[in-house]
Amino acid sequence: MANRLLITGGAGFIGSHTCVVLLEQGYELVVLDSFDNSSPVASERVRELSGSQALHVLKGDIRNAETVNQAFRCRGPIDGVIHFAGLKAVGESVANPLLYWDVNLNGSRVLAAAMEQRSCRTLVFSSTATVYGEPEQFPLREDSPTAPIHPYAQTKVAVEQMLQALCRQKNWRVASLRYFNPVGAHPSGRIGEDPLGIPNNLFPFITQVAAGRRSHLRIFGSDYPTPDGTGIRDYLHVMDLAEAHSATISHLLKQDPCTHLTLNIGTGRGLSVLEVVRGFEQATGLTIPFEVVERRPGDVPRLEACPDQAEMTLGWRAKHSLLEMCRDGWTWQQANPTGYRSAA
Ligand code: NAD
Ligand code: UD1
Repeated sequence: MANRLLITGGAGFIGSHTCVVLLEQGYELVVLDSFDNSSPVASERVRELSGSQALHVLKGDIRNAETVNQAFRCRGPIDGVIHFAGLKAVGESVANPLLYWDVNLNGSRVLAAAMEQRSCRTLVFSSTATVYGEPEQFPLREDSPTAPIHPYAQTKVAVEQMLQALCRQKNWRVASLRYFNPVGAHPSGRIGEDPLGIPNNLFPFITQVAAGRRSHLRIFGSDYPTPDGTGIRDYLHVMDLAEAHSATISHLLKQDPCTHLTLNIGTGRGLSVLEVVRGFEQATGLTIPFEVVERRPGDVPRLEACPDQAEMTLGWRAKHSLLEMCRDGWTWQQANPTGYRSAA
């Protein structure tokens, strides 16, 4: 019988791409999403892309215990949970820390309590490379110290710790995946990243400049201690990240209780902002006008994963190139100039 999974935040950017991969592999999915930062259209397109109807969508907030219980009841026993739901904007977390502790930590606690009540003890958690703070040694391994420098990262470290305790004391099987910088879109251009308002992140900003929605890119600082002075990040194709989730849940479901994995999910190859701009220009044949401005507060010079542990544990490694990330992100942007809001 197919495994049934609960996917919190399954209509979001990473969640929707992961749902496609999991449905194609025969899982049945229950998505619980408040749609605070996503659209139900994403889930409709996930059904269309996967050709599967085994996707059940429930609108609701993970902080509401009754709603979470309903998600567990609506289709029958849940074998495992992938927990994407949460807030992710660093600046907003500095301005409104209580909201971040409430959604990210309290929401995870409510979810974990409902799981424990049902003896559903297998969970994949969306953590982030930003838990490493401003590291000095590269590439980053999972045993590099965590040093969160803003409330968003602090909430992620706290949830990782809560889950570690559940593995030790309550026989859980958990993987905390520390994503580096997921970008791009499903190659069909039917699903992708759909930020509200002015994009905070580099990739959606570049695609909106390319589409003429913004006049030019502002590069935040060219005086970092990097070869060309602009910030370095480990960008990975969102389809690679989706595959990493499917490899992780299938691995966890075969493990003994008391398993806790912490895995970096990146390519191992950092790229500067200028390299990304040039890569995008090469992939699309377009020109991206830019100006260099002040550094953005809270930005670190460099983040770059050592992905070896993920490969050893899961047999997973990122496959897609920068060119594919740019091409697929651009296909999505062209087909959906105003994201899902343009959908009928
Ligand atoms: P996203 O905002 O597109 O997806 C998050 C989803 O959670 C959205 O669909 C949103 O509506 C939903 N949600 C938010 N609050 C909720 C609540 N209280 N109850 C139910 N649903 C709620 O973000 P994403 O980029 O897909 O990120 C998914 C996860 O991965 C997040 O936890 C994020 O912190 C983490 N992460 C993202 C990145 C990245 O660069 N995108 C990097 C590292 C970690
Ligand atoms: C940011 C968050 C990070 C979060 C991630 C995903 C901050 C400080 N960090 O990561 O915690 O997990 O998004 O949501 O907000 N850049 C520009 N111009 C732009 C946008 C970005 O030059 O308009 C540069 C940045 O300075 C950085 C690089 O591009 O060097 C990548 O930025 P971004 O895509 O925002 O990712 P992070 O800063 O790594």
